[in-house]
Formats: sequence, C-alpha cells, structure tokens
Amino acid sequence: MVETHVFAQDNLDTSKINTNKLPKHIAIIMDGNGRWAKQKGLLRAIGHENGTKSVRQTVEASAKIGIENLTLYAFSTENWNRPKLEVDTLMKLLVSALKKEIKTLQDNNIKLNAIGKLSNLPKKVFTELNEVIERTKDNSRMTLTLALSYGSREELLNTIKEISDKVKNNIISSENIDESIINEHLYTQNLPDVDLLIRTSGEQRISNFLLWQIAYAELYFTKVLWPDFTQQHLCDAIIEYQNRERRFGKTSEQIS
Ligand code: IPE
Ligand code: IPE
Ligand code: MG
Repeated sequence: MVETHVFAQDNLDTSKINTNKLPKHIAIIMDGNGRWAKQKGLLRAIGHENGTKSVRQTVEASAKIGIENLTLYAFSTENWNRPKLEVDTLMKLLVSALKKEIKTLQDNNIKLNAIGKLSNLPKKVFTELNEVIERTKDNSRMTLTLALSYGSREELLNTIKEISDKVKNNIISSENIDESIINEHLYTQNLPDVDLLIRTSGEQRISNFLLWQIAYAELYFTKVLWPDFTQQHLCDAIIEYQNRERRFGKTSEQIS
C-alpha cells in the first residue's frame, strides 16, 4: 500500500499518519476541564471556556487530516445533575460557541449534527443549534456531531420505544428486527460505527457514551486534560490507532 501524508498545519507533524488507513469515525470524551481550572486556581467555568479552544483545534485538524466523522461528547444526561450555575455556564458557552464557530464550520466545509435528547436543552441552545445545523447541511468534508444531553442508555430506551411502536402498528414485524433496524433508530442513524474512541483526563471509563456504537472501537486514553489537548495529541492518537491490529473476532492470520 502506498503511504501518503497530509500536512494540516506548519508546526503539526502528520508525517506518520497513513491517509489510506484513517479512522472513518473518531469519538472523543472531552474530559478534565474542571481539573485543569482547579490546578490553576481558576473557576471551573474558565476550564470549560478553555476547552472550547481545544474543540476548535480538534475540529480543524480532523477535517484537514481527512476524518469524515468526528463526534464530541459535550454534555451527558448525567451532567444535568451538576450545580445549576455550572449547567447554566455550559449552556451559555454552547450558544456563544455555536454563534462564533459557524464561520469555522463554513470555512472548512463541515456539517454540524447533534445527538441526544435535544428537547431537554434550553430553548436558546436548541434554536441556535438547529440554525447552525440547517446552515451547514450541504457541507460535505466532515460531519461534526455534538453529543448534547446525550446518554447511551437513554438513546437505547428511545430506540426500543420507537421500534416497539412500529411493531404495534404493524410497520415492522418483530421477526425482522435486526442490527440494521436498531442502527436506523439510534440518534447516530447516519453515522458509521466508531473506529477510534479517545478519552482525555486519565479516566478510563465510557460514562454512558455510544455503548452500542463502540462495540469494536479502539480505545485510547490519555492523561492530558481537555483544555491542553492539541492537534498533535490528536495525531498521536491516530498514529497509535493505525499501529493496532483490528481483528473483529478473527485470527491475526485471517487479517493479514
Ligand atoms: C468535561 O470536563 C466537560 C463536561 C463534562 C461538560 P469536566 O467538567 O468533567 O472536568 P473534570 O472531570 O471535573 O475535571
Ligand atoms: C463525561 O464526562 C461526559 C462528557 C465529557 C460530556 P464526566 O466528567 O461527566 O464523566 P464522569 O462523571 O467522570 O464519569
Ligand atoms: Mg469530568
């Protein structure tokens, strides 16, 4: 196989990335904003604010490298249980980031998508989100999916309810329920399975993120706190992914 290289940024070393073997879908659990702020004696809100810079860097680098799908865990169903002040701050930050970053999305030909129980979001967030989704819907270089008020168990519950309703109304017969029918009813319906799942901040857990979709994803944990996550860190994760052997249940000999 011919190795080709991409150069996303002058100071970014992407020379070790094989563009013929890119993950089609990268998902990131962006964790560690609070600890980043605490280490510096700052408010958690400042940590979240700095986290948005890493979001922009990661989105731009992913598009330039040629990643087709990037999904970012921005707010979980469980995060609603945080202090109201922090939830409000996060929602405000989201609205301002959406307003500000529409240009980044347009300049980079990126389509915005969202997964989660979006009806639970404050009206302002919901409206702004839909506006950006609508305005970027014809962009084709990369799909950026924000997981907002997202929990995998809630998603699966929703899926089961939708399918049951269809069975009840004779739209689907229960014998015909298969993996593709489940995929079509998940919030991630138009996305391929996750190839590479990254979690920052040193925690080694999934925290209710894409449980169905990560069945065969490669997991990459880094101690770097999200506000410190750079384009080079993303490249490192992709390189590590490319050095792993994905066997999907087969033997090593069958793969090679
Ligand atoms: C991730 O950072 C952002 C969200 C979950 C919204 P945290 O806020 O979880 O930061 P830590 O884990 O407390 O450091
Ligand atoms: C996971 O981070 C959710 C997001 C990054 C949005 P948390 O900080 O909420 O996860 P736990 O509570 O440490 O598992
Ligand atoms: Mg956390």
